[in-house]
Parts: sequence; structure tokens; C-alpha cells
Amino acid sequence: MSYRIAPSILSADFARLGEEVDNVLKSGADIVHFDVMDNHYVPNLTIGPLVCEALRKHGVTAPIDVHLMVKPVDRIVPDFAKAGATYITFHPEASEHIDRTIALIREAGCKPGLVFNPATPLDVLEWTLDKLDMVLLMSVNPGFGGQKFIPHVLDKARRVRRMIDERKLNVSLEIDGGVGPANIRAVAQAGVDTFVAGSAVFGACKDSDPNRYDSIIAALRAELAKA
Ligand code: DX5
Ligand code: ZN
Repeated sequence: MSYRIAPSILSADFARLGEEVDNVLKSGADIVHFDVMDNHYVPNLTIGPLVCEALRKHGVTAPIDVHLMVKPVDRIVPDFAKAGATYITFHPEASEHIDRTIALIREAGCKPGLVFNPATPLDVLEWTLDKLDMVLLMSVNPGFGGQKFIPHVLDKARRVRRMIDERKLNVSLEIDGGVGPANIRAVAQAGVDTFVAGSAVFGACKDSDPNRYDSIIAALRAELAKA
């Protein structure tokens, strides 16, 4: 299995965002995880398409993984596609017509994914999994960085991994929330291939050394190598 590390910029220094993203990618991260919150679907407010576009203009070429925690979903999809999103993932309960939203993301030229909160059942995957590029399992309740990993999500991950493998699909399985060096190996062993980490990465070091993320990314990779 090839593993991908996706730092969540929610915990980055927003006053120096371009530099933060450059540094974390230079340290070996694979994907930029971009948390969009609307103070309606979740009780917090973050960043939108303008910031995604600004990162592209700054020169970021890595995949940008846009995690939409917004309701409604459809209106904002074309804006993120134009802004340079690679993946666009959304919560099924935030869309009135899940199949339509998946198609809208695909038609806009992006890779669609569904996101499941810790207590949200997986039943919609029966009719959607073959249309997705990504399944994202929340291992915290969405809205804030720095929360504690909810362990029952490991069972959920094993279940989704089984579904993907049984159907021989090429769908990424991503996890988001409370992931760090202490648990990333167990998460990988449950079948996850893409790991969001916000506070564990950006909280690792506060000085201005451009290589300051080398050791945390290396620590995550070293744990993954043992999985
Ligand atoms: C939470 C966000 C996460 C968050 C993860 O709603 O979706 O991406 O930034 O942060 P940590 O890794 O600190 O739990
Ligand atoms: Zn996220």
C-alpha cells in the first residue's frame, strides 16, 4: 500500500499560509488538506475558494484536498473547481441529492469523495462507492482541529477497506482527526491509505526554520513503514 500524508492547513499560520504550505510539502507531505467551514453545517468559519486560488497562484502544484463542511454543497462546487481543487469531498447529510453532487464534482473536473462523521452510517456507499475517488472517515466530530481520536472509527475503516477491496475499486480511504505518530500505524493497519494531520504537523514546531516539518513528517513515515 502506498501511503499519503495530508497536512490540514487549519492548524497552519494563516498569516504566512503560502510559506507554510511550501515548507510542509518540502518536508515530504503529499497532499494539502483544505478545511472549508461555514458556521452553519459546522460551528466554525474558515476559508473559501479565494484562498485555494491564492495557493495555486503562489505556485502550489500538489493535490489540494478540499473538505467541504458546508450546507448546501452544490453552489460552491464550481467555484472550488475553478480555484484549482483536486479532490472535493462533502458530507452526504449536507446534500439533498448525493448522486447529483457527486456528478457535479466529476463534471467540474475534480475527484469526488464522501465524508462520514463518527456516528454517520455508511449505507449510502452501497450506491455511490464506484463513483467516488475518496472515502473520508472523520475520527473526530467536524469543526475544530486538535480534538481526540475516536477509536471506533478503526472498525469503520476496516469495513470500508473491505468494501473497496471486494469491489476491486481504486478508491482512496482517508482519515481525518486526532491522527499523529502515536496512532498512525494502527490507522494504517485498519486499511487507511491517506492521513490528514493538522495539529500534529503544524503544532510540532513553532520556530521559523523552513525545515521545521522534516522531523514530524519523517516520524509519521517511520510509523507507516512499520504498519
Ligand atoms: C476537523 C477538520 C480536520 C482538522 C484535523 O473538522 O476536518 O481536518 O483540521 O485536525 P487535527 O489533526 O488537529 O485533529
Ligand atoms: Zn478535514
